Amino acid sequence: MLLEDIRFLVTQDEERRILTDVDLLVEDGRIDEIGEDLSAPGERIDCSGKAVMPGLVNSHTHAAMTVFRGVSDSKLLQGWLEEEILPREDRLEGEDIYFGTLMGIAEMLLTGTTCFNDMYLMEGEVARAVDHAGVRAVLSYGMTDEHGMREPLEEVERLITGYKDHDLIEPAVGPHAPYTCSTEFLRKAGETAEEHDVPLHIHLSETEEENERILEAEGKTPAEYLDSLGLLGPRTVAAHCTHLNGADIEILEERGAGVAHNPAANLKLGSGIAPVPGLEGVDVGLGTDGMASNNNHNLFEEMKFASLVQKLEDPREMSAQKVLDMATIDGARVLGLEDRIGSLEEGKRADILTVELSSPELSPVNKPEDLISHLVFSFSGNVSDTMVEGDLKVRDGELTELDIDEIRGEVEDRRGRIDGESA
Ligand code: NI
Repeated sequence: MLLEDIRFLVTQDEERRILTDVDLLVEDGRIDEIGEDLSAPGERIDCSGKAVMPGLVNSHTHAAMTVFRGVSDSKLLQGWLEEEILPREDRLEGEDIYFGTLMGIAEMLLTGTTCFNDMYLMEGEVARAVDHAGVRAVLSYGMTDEHGMREPLEEVERLITGYKDHDLIEPAVGPHAPYTCSTEFLRKAGETAEEHDVPLHIHLSETEEENERILEAEGKTPAEYLDSLGLLGPRTVAAHCTHLNGADIEILEERGAGVAHNPAANLKLGSGIAPVPGLEGVDVGLGTDGMASNNNHNLFEEMKFASLVQKLEDPREMSAQKVLDMATIDGARVLGLEDRIGSLEEGKRADILTVELSSPELSPVNKPEDLISHLVFSFSGNVSDTMVEGDLKVRDGELTELDIDEIRGEVEDRRGRIDGESA
């Protein structure tokens, strides 16, 4: 497939080049060549009025929670979790998770996300949805042994052995958080991730209350505590990190752990704001978190939030380019996928989105710098085309494969059942 006459190609390469009037050739799911006047047989997409950029990377979400969108909009995290979410999660069936995830994926594809890092219950159902939709994902069971042992480590081993050779799915280990897992369980989860050499995905220092609980129980901050158990390293993806002190940041830097920043969910649950400008030596990606605390999967919106929450303190912080990096190449690095995705360069996987530039919200766009600012601060996120590994999943703003009416019907019925039982 040839993307031809691209008006702006946002490469996100080392020099952050934006090329104009070039072609991009996709072959065998990879970016074969970028250059002028390329020719190739097969499908062509006229990109003379479009920007073309890397597919976005959502570095922390719980896609199946799309089925809970909007259940509670005005509670603190602990009440939200214990009164609204956990009782509903106890009633979840496998197919709720499957269809909830498909709805989340549909939304992600329509807003340009091609890869997401997920943690949830019955993650095998999430994997089935991801495989069906043909998107890229890092998948982990959200494990805890405090609310009853919800996902034993044998299930995790099954996910890892079942998907370790899959083209698009990276299995991972996901102990839910320092405050929902026992010390011994956390240690075992860390060993499992190391043994299989897969990512370790965990919530960390999401709220002040979590910090107080861990400090009281362990005499350490959550970051120090996880570090003492050997859980912080280059394979770690630590979600939130809203309450880190200077010593915690040094630990993350030294260990090479990555952070997934979720500004919308952190604002909505009043959890705090991660000190992103202070995390210069740490790879930081962007996540949406779940749909009961955001409430959408639109990473364009998340980029704007990530910038604005820091600009409140200092408008010179968090440029459009910086947050675009977080949603692309830096997010890929957090997930250990930077050799494959996150930028548009020859040899990388063809995870690509295109944006039609004719809409008023993107005008005027006279030069490349205008474009990056518009994409972050003005664009709604409704992309024109989305491609994963060379396959078009969205074409002219419409899903090519997923049947959105069927998925919506399933999700509405299932949500009705779940809410009905909670009355
Ligand atoms: Ni989360």
